[in-house]
Amino acid sequence: MKKAIAFMMAAAVCFSMAACGNNSAESKPAAGGADAQVSASETESTDTSANAEEAAGGEEQPADGKALIMATNAAFPPYEYYEGDEIVGIDAEIAEAIAKELGMTLEIDDMEFSSIITAIQTGKADFGAAGMTVTPEREENVNFTDVYATGVQVIVVPEDSEIASPDNLEGKMIGVQESTTGHIFCSEDYGEDHVQAYPTGANAIEALKTGKVDCVVIDNEPAKSFVEANEGLKILDTEYVTEDYAIAIAKDNEQLLKDINEAMAKLKEDGTIQSIIDKYITAE
Ligand code: ARG
Repeated sequence: MKKAIAFMMAAAVCFSMAACGNNSAESKPAAGGADAQVSASETESTDTSANAEEAAGGEEQPADGKALIMATNAAFPPYEYYEGDEIVGIDAEIAEAIAKELGMTLEIDDMEFSSIITAIQTGKADFGAAGMTVTPEREENVNFTDVYATGVQVIVVPEDSEIASPDNLEGKMIGVQESTTGHIFCSEDYGEDHVQAYPTGANAIEALKTGKVDCVVIDNEPAKSFVEANEGLKILDTEYVTEDYAIAIAKDNEQLLKDINEAMAKLKEDGTIQSIIDKYITAE
């Protein structure tokens, strides 16, 4: 069904992996992210007229003037993960800054990554911010804001692994996080029988450590975080092919798309977004 698009993406990523480049395994603040557990948090909307009044210059209010509800999967450091009971990270802080720009409060609803788009479509959440890659297939179901960050799929292996490049993945068992671009790419390229999908990247890494899979394909920044938090793993050098991360919004909520894009433009302009990214990702 969605094969053509998935295949195109798979081919692009695969090519980039094969091309090889400079993905340094040097990494940075792990912040214990690998241990972050997903625990669905039920959110209560706090509706205040003060919020509603200020928001979006009196135009149609996002979420009917209630708090903005962000859907995410908080097991993806440094973009979203738990620090104690609190969900922190790049996406959480950018969303917070956007909500503030719009004169609204922010609530974060943690769920499986595969549920985020449905949550947006059904109005359970106002938007999704989850290191989510813009893909043509997803664009059929949601609108994406302007891009705020970039990522790349990388391969994590045990330090003594015989896997040295994507060419060695044929016939191997690959761990991925369910419904991610890594999942789509690997299924198309190596066959579904060779891909094991887990609810979180941390679960996939756990499976790698116990030998249930031979490698994990995941976005580069979470990969660095997991490798830092777990002994004996490394990231293969692959060329950086960038995937664009953006915020997903319901197709019928054009107003919120416009509001968030405007807020984001301002936060890019005044350096807020870059400083949030720099806080979590140190330059290599
Ligand atoms: N960038 C990848 C994708 O969009 C993975 C995102 C996973 N995000 C998360 N919060 N678990 O498919």
